[in-house]
Amino acid sequence: MAHEPLHTMGQQHGRRSWAEPWKIKMVEPLRIIPREEREKALVEAGHNSFLLRSDDVYIDLLTDSGTNAMSDRQWAGMMLGDEAYAGSRNFYHLEEAARTHYGYRYLVPTHQGRGAEHLISRALIKPGHSVPGNMYFTTTRLHQELAGGTFVDVIIDEAHDPMTLHPFKGNVDLGKLEALIKRVGPDKIPYVSLAGTVNMAGGQPISMANMKAVRALCDTYGIRIYLDATRMVENVFFIQEREEGYEGKSIAAILREFCSYTDGAWMSAKKDHLVNIGGWVAVNDADLFDQLRNLVVIYEGLHTYGGMAGRDMEALAIGIGESVQDDHVRARVGQVHYLGDLLLGWEIPIVVPVGGHAIFLDARRFYPHIPQDQFPAQALTAALYLDSGARGMERGIVSAGRDPQTGDHRYPALELTRLAIPRRVYTQAHMDVVAEAVKAAYDGRAETRGLKMIYEPKYLRFFQARFAPLP
Ligand SMILES: Cc1ncc(COP(=O)(O)O)c(C=O)c1O
Repeated sequence: MAHEPLHTMGQQHGRRSWAEPWKIKMVEPLRIIPREEREKALVEAGHNSFLLRSDDVYIDLLTDSGTNAMSDRQWAGMMLGDEAYAGSRNFYHLEEAARTHYGYRYLVPTHQGRGAEHLISRALIKPGHSVPGNMYFTTTRLHQELAGGTFVDVIIDEAHDPMTLHPFKGNVDLGKLEALIKRVGPDKIPYVSLAGTVNMAGGQPISMANMKAVRALCDTYGIRIYLDATRMVENVFFIQEREEGYEGKSIAAILREFCSYTDGAWMSAKKDHLVNIGGWVAVNDADLFDQLRNLVVIYEGLHTYGGMAGRDMEALAIGIGESVQDDHVRARVGQVHYLGDLLLGWEIPIVVPVGGHAIFLDARRFYPHIPQDQFPAQALTAALYLDSGARGMERGIVSAGRDPQTGDHRYPALELTRLAIPRRVYTQAHMDVVAEAVKAAYDGRAETRGLKMIYEPKYLRFFQARFAPLP
């Protein structure tokens, strides 16, 4: 019997194949529960993927946050935890690793990203301030609002269009930024809140050229720039791949250059840094450092642990070094793009270009029959789980929350279901299974109905809201 020739991933792209720069030493069993049990689990979870038990999930793409696989070196580092209350040696390792790769002078550890967001927002934002940024992120904006500020979106328009093929959809629109500065005055802008990559836009990068231009504009008005560096390493990969003059430079060198145009950064280390918990905020300004160091002892823990155990800081210090290795970043982003290429090949509507950490399914184009206030992306997330046990996350109207002034839903242009890929966790075969599950959900799209919200918490409602299917 003649065999049809099959093609490896490399052959499909006209090149030699490459593989992940690691092999697997320890495994965690997975199982898929039967469809009737998934139906029950979904009802118990109020059609919210955050409320599912992980035992009921097969392939978990809820988030890439804290779900990374650590290396043998990181696990070995866990045994070197110095659990002293003050002055833990692991803190100094962390401080050195972050300083080496990000270049900021002073570092304050926090338990995770939102701990860092809380501190920097409290230290710098006063009631009446405007905080411009390249698209909102849920926890970032909430901390800015709780400190009395108003977030103002100054990202380029292309970022709000899931179909535009702009290579740097995370860029700041300099015209929008300058118009805001002129409207409210530079003294009402505590800092520009930049993110690389931009999660809510689909993991889209900001270019080095745009970063330099934002720096120049901010220098004219004496405004500082702080960076949400949570996925900045992945952002740097796109600069290396797409921006002239950077193709021959290392990830580590480009990262240092990018950060040199900012005044500091905060970090959810649970993403790029390949750990399960941790965060930090790092700045160049000694007075601000003093304030942050003072605030951290109220909200997080002493300034040499900030809510992390010594062993966590050691794993994090090692993870920072591993995260900037070129072959690691290529394999990580490459896996996301492998899944994206499969879906695009089948003409399934996703955000393009594919970003760094996740595939974002465009729920508006899946379900043109479901109005946005019947939560199409929430319904798509539920449909996908029902089909295959794969778990994603809503990133649309539910995540956007309500306007604090009017109390109405915010209606974001992007109505997306995110499939975030944990780092070093799943194989290409898992990606194939996920791709087929998405295709099945797409093929069954006409039967999917909208949802109504039957419970809504006050803050960050997407985490705990409950839904029921509409008739
Ligand atoms: C871009 C971005 N910033 C900040 C955070 C908040 O970090 P954490 O979840 O560690 O509190 C996240 C995590 O979801 C994120 O994706």
